[in-house]
Amino acid sequence: MSFNSFGHLFRFTSFGESHGPAIGCVVDGCPPRIPLQVADIQRELDRRRPGQSRFTTQRQEPDAVKIMSGVFTEEATGRQLTTGTPIMLLIENLDQRSRDYSEIKDKYRPGHAGYTYDVKYGIHDYRGGGRASARETAARVAAGAIARKIVPGLNVRAALIQMGPHKIDRARWDWNEVGNNPFFCPDPVQAKFFEEYLDRIRKEGSSVGAVIEVVADGVPAGLGAPVYAKLDGDLAGALMGINAVKGVEIGAGFAAAELRGEDNADEMRMGNDGKPVFLSNHAGGILGGISSGQPIVARFAVKPTSSILTPRKTVDRYGRDTDIVTKGRHDPCVGIRAVPIGEAMLAIVLADHYLMHRAQVGEGTAWPFTPPA
Ligand SMILES: Cc1cc2nc3c(=O)[nH]c(=O)nc-3n(C[C@H](O)[C@H](O)[C@H](O)COP(=O)(O)O)c2cc1C
Repeated sequence: MSFNSFGHLFRFTSFGESHGPAIGCVVDGCPPRIPLQVADIQRELDRRRPGQSRFTTQRQEPDAVKIMSGVFTEEATGRQLTTGTPIMLLIENLDQRSRDYSEIKDKYRPGHAGYTYDVKYGIHDYRGGGRASARETAARVAAGAIARKIVPGLNVRAALIQMGPHKIDRARWDWNEVGNNPFFCPDPVQAKFFEEYLDRIRKEGSSVGAVIEVVADGVPAGLGAPVYAKLDGDLAGALMGINAVKGVEIGAGFAAAELRGEDNADEMRMGNDGKPVFLSNHAGGILGGISSGQPIVARFAVKPTSSILTPRKTVDRYGRDTDIVTKGRHDPCVGIRAVPIGEAMLAIVLADHYLMHRAQVGEGTAWPFTPPA
């Protein structure tokens, strides 16, 4: 199974399966002399970790990360720094329960990856989906914690803005609320509603989808490599590559199709700091595949969890019709834990493009230019 690596200059390779002994990644291309503690990575993993509320899977994984290589503690300062060599991060799987899957060993879960993996590879790792399990996304979050340290002044955040058909009220958006409820929701009123809504969905043996918005502040203008490594193209690929994601939009996204030119184009004026001010951000901070210096804004749609207690029609790997009920421990709304994963993928794409930008143009241009005499 090839293509387990992501990124160009900041590149990580993830490894491991849901029910194997461990998962993790090797981050290659991280610049040297960046302060890096286990706590920096653990803090992010703790936000993605399962079993933290009744609204996520009850699998109890501490997701304790170990840094196996690529760091050195400087004697003079006592600081642990990256060395510029591969950083291997290891997370043990401690709460596998393969027996949960023995009843459905030969059956495919509709909506999950069992059928396509089996058709392609002839291997059916029924234990939690093997490599298709979202356990793999812990590796992305771990790599993302390192990526966050690479672009100076970068702040990457995300929030759940819709569950099923229910959207938040953007007028109530408060970033401080995101850490105060189990949904990473910036609207406290809608977060309260999501509690009873998701309880009902869960008790009915069902699941529901969600929309997540990711935002990066402090992105310098100039990141992105036209034509075939556009920042928006790479970001869309990164977010679409997260398990269960079925749609991505940047800035106004699909709503841009409904606008007229004068409403969509973000008008510009000069600010007092010598940089342009954009009067709106329909572009989501990216023009021509290159960051404009505005916040990068993207959204992604996550489908409802396919493993549900409601009986479904399926086939088995021997080509026979059958029915399936998926027991075991599953997230009733996988969009919740996708929030820190979206942040990680955005941070990784930006770190990668920051390093590529530096490699090609160094410090960049001295815009604004002096007009000809
Ligand atoms: C954070 C997270 C948790 C997930 N947990 C589950 C789960 O408990 N049960 C399940 O069937 N799918 C879960 N998924 C989705 C599957 O991993 C995904 O649907 C599967 O790999 C098939 O890939 P696709 O949906 O991208 O086509 C989860 C996804 C994410 C992002």
